[in-house]
This record gives sequence, structure tokens and C-alpha cells, in this order.
Amino acid sequence: MSTSCKRDHISHREGIRCAEMAMVCLTDFEEYAKEHLSKATWDYYAAGADECCTRDDNLLAYKRIRLRPRILRDVSVSDTRTTVQGTEISFPVGIAPTAFHCLAWHEGEMATARGTEAVNTCYITSTYSTCSVEEIVAAAPNGYRWFQLYVYRDRKLSESIVHRVEALGYKALVLTVDVPYTGKRRNDIRNQFKLPPHLKVKNFDGVIQVMEAASSEEYGIPSNTLDPSISWKDVYWLQSLTRLPIIIKGILTKEDAELAVEHGVQGIIVSNHGGRQLDGGPATIDALSEIVDTVQGRIEVYLDGGIRTGSDVLKAVALGAKCVFIGRPAVWGLAYKGEEGVREVLQILNDEFRLSMALSGCRNVAEINRNLIQFSKQ
Ligand code: FNR
Repeated sequence: MSTSCKRDHISHREGIRCAEMAMVCLTDFEEYAKEHLSKATWDYYAAGADECCTRDDNLLAYKRIRLRPRILRDVSVSDTRTTVQGTEISFPVGIAPTAFHCLAWHEGEMATARGTEAVNTCYITSTYSTCSVEEIVAAAPNGYRWFQLYVYRDRKLSESIVHRVEALGYKALVLTVDVPYTGKRRNDIRNQFKLPPHLKVKNFDGVIQVMEAASSEEYGIPSNTLDPSISWKDVYWLQSLTRLPIIIKGILTKEDAELAVEHGVQGIIVSNHGGRQLDGGPATIDALSEIVDTVQGRIEVYLDGGIRTGSDVLKAVALGAKCVFIGRPAVWGLAYKGEEGVREVLQILNDEFRLSMALSGCRNVAEINRNLIQFSKQ
């Protein structure tokens, strides 16, 4: 009987709360979050676009990939460390930008920042944070952070946040390019989901006129703030504002990967926004290889979407991702126990990754390569 079955059995029969049970894998945190968050909040975090095919395929695609383990390679000592943009992190997993962390835990992004700092990896702060970037940095002053940016119609708004995060010591800008418009998430529409009035998108404090001028809202954010006309030339505009490395999040094809390199960015995150935007696009792990082959090591390639186990991380790194990022699992950790929950989620993933490495004969991250991968012949 699997641990999660056993837990279900006990919790139903004896009324023992999940929180008192051992959290063994990321799915345990998912179950806990589903049970404890309000329906509307759970639906918001879980949502995919339309029929959720891409969201679900992000996970299923890992199950189609098999490993080719090597044996007798003395794995008594193993090292999971790697680097991103020249900075060392404890293992190739960071936190993807997700919005509204105060919905999951009262200290919101401040708790996320502390939990990530404790594990020494990278936290990408979302523009749509419910704590300000100043509060986040003060909460975890030694954390390694990148900032996720959307381009607004009001370019002065984008400019000012870029200057703020640069001054605060953020180490890179992650430009999300897959949201010219918000995807159609059916449950959010049914629930009429929006940020409750006691929470704010804190990074917009002081630009309240922009909010009030909006005629309609999505998720409590004015629907006309994001600029659907953004194009490659805006990458040059962003480069003119900052000396920070720029990483483009939301690339799924070799053609766009080549354009990203030509436009002088420092990294790509292969991402489909957790399947929340275009339904029918590829699982990110399936899109990774053509991008890695095109980029040929000129810039770093990362990936997010569907990472739930250490062997998922191993497969993504074997296929050329320098690092992967987790979105929903970090929010489940937050919902479980705030900072400590985020730390536990990362620690479990680190332990699983280390074990998968050892069981496939890899002593360090540099030894992980494509020879580990066998695609099943179905
Ligand atoms: C997101 N994502 C996201 N991306 C981004 O660039 N800015 C954002 O504000 C958000 N907000 C957000 C909220 C929620 C609730 C989710 C689930 C996702 C997308 C996120 O960065 C990432 O691409 C996916 O979450 C990765 O998939 P997994 O790990 O959730 O499967």
C-alpha cells in the first residue's frame, strides 16, 4: 500500500489530520493544500486553460521517458550543486514565479523567500506578489533572487519596478512572454475569482490611479495593464534600462529560441505557464530538446512545468536543462506550513534527486547527460 493510500485510510477511519502525518512526497503537500484551502483558492492555483490538456501533459510526459541507469560507479559520495548565471545553488531546482502567496499563507512571499533562502536556491519573485519586493528582501536578506516582469502598457510602471529590483539586489529579470492575454481558466470564471479586498498586489502600491482607471478587472488586477503589443524590439528596450541579465520565460520552439539568442538575452525558461495559457501546446519536457539543440550552449536553458519528483528533475537535466523551477508545489508547501513547508518541499525534492542520481550512477550534476535517457517505444 502506498504511503498516500495508507494516509487516506487512517485519516478517514481515525480522523487523524494530514498535518500530523509524515510528508513523504510532493503529492502529499498537494493533498493537504486541496483539503485546507478554500475551493476558489485551490481552483485558482490548480487551474489550467480550457480543457487542461497541456497542464496535464506536463506531468504525463515525464512518465513516457525512461532512464538508462549505469551501475558499479561508486556513488558513496554525491554532489547536487550547480550554478545558474554564474551563482552556485544547492541543486538544480528553484521556485518559479507564482502570484498571490498570501492566499496560501498569511506571510505570503516573505515566507517563500525565507524557505528558499534556507535551502540556498533561486526564488523568482512574481510581479503579482502580495508582499512588496522591499518586504521580501528584508525577510530573507541573503536569498538569491530573480524578478519576473510583465511589460505594462504604461512603460513608466515597468521602468520603475526594474530600477527598484535592481537597487534591491535582484540578480536577473525574467521576462514572461506568454501572457499577451490571460488564458481562459474555466473554474476561475465560474468562481468569479479575484483577490480578496484585504490583499493587494503590493508592488503597485502608489500607482493606485492606474488601478482605479481600469474599466474591468481580472483577478482583481486591471485587465488592460499588460501590453499585448509587446514584441522582440521590447527586449532591446529592456536591455537599455538595466544591466541585469535578461531571461525569457515562455519559449516553446527552436525558432523563438534562436531569436532569443540573437537578441542577446542570457537565458530561456522553456515554459507553458503550467498549462494556464495556450491549451494544446506541448509539454515542456517534450519541447526542451529542440531548444537545447538550437541554443548549443550559447545561453543557459531552464524549464518549468510538471516537476513533481527527483527523477523528473534528473530527466530534465539529462535533456539539457541547467535548472528547473517548481510553481504549484511551492504554493502547496506554503499552504502546509509557510516557510517551513516551502523548505520541506525543496528538501524532499533534493533528497529524491540525490537518490535518483545515485541509482543511475551519477556522482555529480556534470555527469548527468543524454545517455541517461531512453524514450519508451510505445
Ligand atoms: C503561475 N505562473 C506565473 N508565471 C509568471 O511568469 N508570473 C506569474 O505571476 C505567474 N503566476 C502563476 C500563478 C499560479 C497559481 C500558477 C500555478 C502559475 C506560471 C509559473 O511560473 C510556472 O510556469 C508554472 O507554475 C510551472 O508549472 P508547475 O510547476 O506549476 O507545474
